[in-house]
Order: sequence, then C-alpha cells, then structure tokens
Amino acid sequence: MQQEIRILPMNETHIPAIAEIERQCFSEPWSEKSLEEELGLQYAVFLTALIDDRVAGYMGTQHLGGCAYVCNVAVSPAFRRRSVASALIAAQIDAARAAGMIEMTLEVRTSNEAARSLYEKFGFFHVGTRPNFYSHPPENAEIYTLTFE
Ligand SMILES: CC(C)(COP(=O)(O)OP(=O)(O)OC[C@H]1O[C@@H](n2cnc3c(N)ncnc32)[C@H](O)[C@@H]1OP(=O)(O)O)[C@@H](O)C(=O)NCCC(=O)NCCS
Repeated sequence: MQQEIRILPMNETHIPAIAEIERQCFSEPWSEKSLEEELGLQYAVFLTALIDDRVAGYMGTQHLGGCAYVCNVAVSPAFRRRSVASALIAAQIDAARAAGMIEMTLEVRTSNEAARSLYEKFGFFHVGTRPNFYSHPPENAEIYTLTFE
C-alpha cells in the first residue's frame, strides 16, 4: 500500500534528519547550520516530505527576481522511488506560481540520470551546460528551466 506523503514547511525539528540525508546523498553536504540559515530568509522556500512522521526528503528553493532557483532536492535512500521527490517538486511549483514567479531553474550533474529524468518528467527544458560547475568530483552541470504559463 502506498504510504501517505505529507509536505510541510521545513522547521528546526526536521534539520538533523535532513542534514543526515544530505550526508548520504552528496560529497559536499549542506550542514545543519546552513539549513538553519535558510529558515531566516524570507525568499527561501524549504519543504520537508514526511512519511509516517519520518523525514523522507526535502527540497529548497529561493525566489529571486521572478525566478525560483532550486537549491537542492534529496530523498533518503530508504524512501526512493515512492514519488517523494515528485511530491516535493509539485509543491514547490505550486508555491512558486502562487508567489508570482515566472520560472523555476536548476543545475544538475551531467551523470545524474535519476534527477535529470525526474526534472524532464515535470517538463523542465534543458537550456545549457555549465562546464566544471561541480567539484568532488569535477563535473559539468546541466541547466534546466521550467517556464510557467
Ligand atoms: C533524484 C531523487 C531526488 C529522486 O527521488 P525519488 O523520490 O526517488 O523520485 P520519484 O520517486 O518521485 O521519481 C520520479 C521520477 O524520477 C525519475 N527517477 C527517480 N529515480 C530514478 C532512478 N533511480 N533512475 C531513473 N529515473 C529515476 C523517474 O523519471 C521517476 O518517474 P517514474 O517513477 O515514473 O519512473 C533521489 O534519487 C535522490 O535523492 N538522489 C540523490 C540526491 C540527488 O541527486 N538530488 C538531485 C540533485 S540535482
């Protein structure tokens, strides 16, 4: 049976679990302190996905100059392929539209086929490549944009 995914604004109590997911997912994870700093930013929209009250994933955007810039999206390995990232992106798109943003944009490692497939499924358009954008290991970034109607 599909478990219910609840999407809530990120709060302090979610941060230790989100920082752990960051460490599981990325070579340069966001720290608890950098996540806490986002809570104080008026233009930051950070959302947590809960399943059975456990933190399954999170996604953060910053609304700047009419554009919702995706800072990160990550799902715990224990909760992958259960539409958690899809629920987070859908909620972020709703929030960006409601705030009057005209587009959402992001970068992703060229080799990250799972994430690229996720973004393409949501209609993001590949608009270019940023050479050597990432380190640890060095890699190009692919830039994707979703323009709202
Ligand atoms: C990418 C990631 C966020 C996907 O999270 P998820 O909750 O498992 O994704 P969903 O279940 O919502 O999947 C939605 C779509 O994403 C794509 N997708 C997700 N995982 C995939 C995989 N392992 N291989 C290929 N496509 C994948 C598929 O198109 C999928 O649609 P489908 O289920 O109809 O095939 C997750 O794998 C993750 O946290 N990865 C590590 C962190 C990361 O790379 N973040 C992105 C940084 S830019």
